Amino acid sequence: MENYKKTIHLGIIGAGKVTTQPNRHIDSIRSLHDKDVEITAIADITPGLAADVAEEFHIPYSFEDYHDLLAMETIDAVTINTPTFTHKQIALDCIRAGKHVYVEKPITQTAEELVEVLAEARKSNKVFLGGSNGLLQRQMRMFRQLVSSGRMGETYLMTIDRCSSRNQEYGMHSLSGKHGSGISSHSGSHNVEWALYLLGDPNPVSVQARGYYQTQSLSLSGVPETYDDDTCIATVYFDNGATFLFKALRAAPGQDKYVMNLYGDKMSLSYDVLKCYKQQSDDCIHLYEHDPILGMQEIIPKFQCGKTHADMYEHFFSCIRDHIPCISNGDRGLVTMRILDAMEQSILHGGCQIFL
Ligand SMILES: NC(=O)c1ccc[n+]([C@@H]2O[C@H](COP(=O)([O-])OP(=O)(O)OC[C@H]3O[C@@H](n4cnc5c(N)ncnc54)[C@H](O)[C@@H]3O)[C@@H](O)[C@H]2O)c1
Repeated sequence: MENYKKTIHLGIIGAGKVTTQPNRHIDSIRSLHDKDVEITAIADITPGLAADVAEEFHIPYSFEDYHDLLAMETIDAVTINTPTFTHKQIALDCIRAGKHVYVEKPITQTAEELVEVLAEARKSNKVFLGGSNGLLQRQMRMFRQLVSSGRMGETYLMTIDRCSSRNQEYGMHSLSGKHGSGISSHSGSHNVEWALYLLGDPNPVSVQARGYYQTQSLSLSGVPETYDDDTCIATVYFDNGATFLFKALRAAPGQDKYVMNLYGDKMSLSYDVLKCYKQQSDDCIHLYEHDPILGMQEIIPKFQCGKTHADMYEHFFSCIRDHIPCISNGDRGLVTMRILDAMEQSILHGGCQIFL
């Protein structure tokens, strides 16, 4: 890999919500105040959109065809923020163009597609980062340290409990088809990856899931979507004995909630994701130590929450400049995709157990 003594010139493909909304891509990059990073170009297939966004955010170059962005030799790194069904081809093109690449979650539609992308990425000497940005937040790394240091003891269970009312859900109307807009994929692509990371990267043994659909009112265009579960309840069993329990609903008006719990035999933690995202509050993490005499004791965590995309970019730029190993180089993403594929199969077959 080359040495980065120079500015990283970044190109963004996709100028939609996740690129332009507050605390997402452009805002997060700018919030880092990293003088050695420049957003040089943006591309979007929707006529005029990239030019509008470039003007609004003072980005020097804009294109409708992302191949023109990739043809710019000055572009070192690219972020892919397009609907999921486009990720595979765009990622392959970016890697072949010799760029460092970050792909939004879900990295691809299926595990099969990701295998193809990773094979190409492994041939390149550039950084490939993909998947859940939430996993790259600093608190997640602290959680992982608590696990790997042994302080939590044996971590045997992670749970996700997520409820929202549909019209408050973010990014619901990206008509990305399979593995894109259903809650099992929209939220599961984050949460399964977190479970793998925090349970010690175990191998999944089997998956059981039920999904419930309310598709008619989902589509903005009035066209019913074929794969859009609104509610998903899933259990993933791992070879180290650990379990991941996932419950996500987006048809639960007035009950907004997004909580992750991680249980170990020495310590447990509770992380209020919603509080962290929406209120930027540090009071979103609670740690409990199991004292044999006193019972469960709450202890004050010594770390603060980071911001999702900002922490992701900090990591991406460090991987490029300092050659540090990427936390999400696609390997865990592939296991995530295999689990999501199995969740889909289980949902489609009425909740039967799918062995991996
Ligand atoms: N990490 C997160 O928390 C998070 C949140 C929301 C969305 N996402 C992911 O980000 C991606 C984009 O989501 P969004 O909500 O911004 O969607 P969006 O529909 O608002 O924007 C996508 C943009 O991509 C453009 N596009 C489509 N095909 C293209 C192509 N071939 N070339 C160039 N541009 C193309 C569209 O014109 C559109 O402007 C999805 O994969 C989604 O899952 C991640």
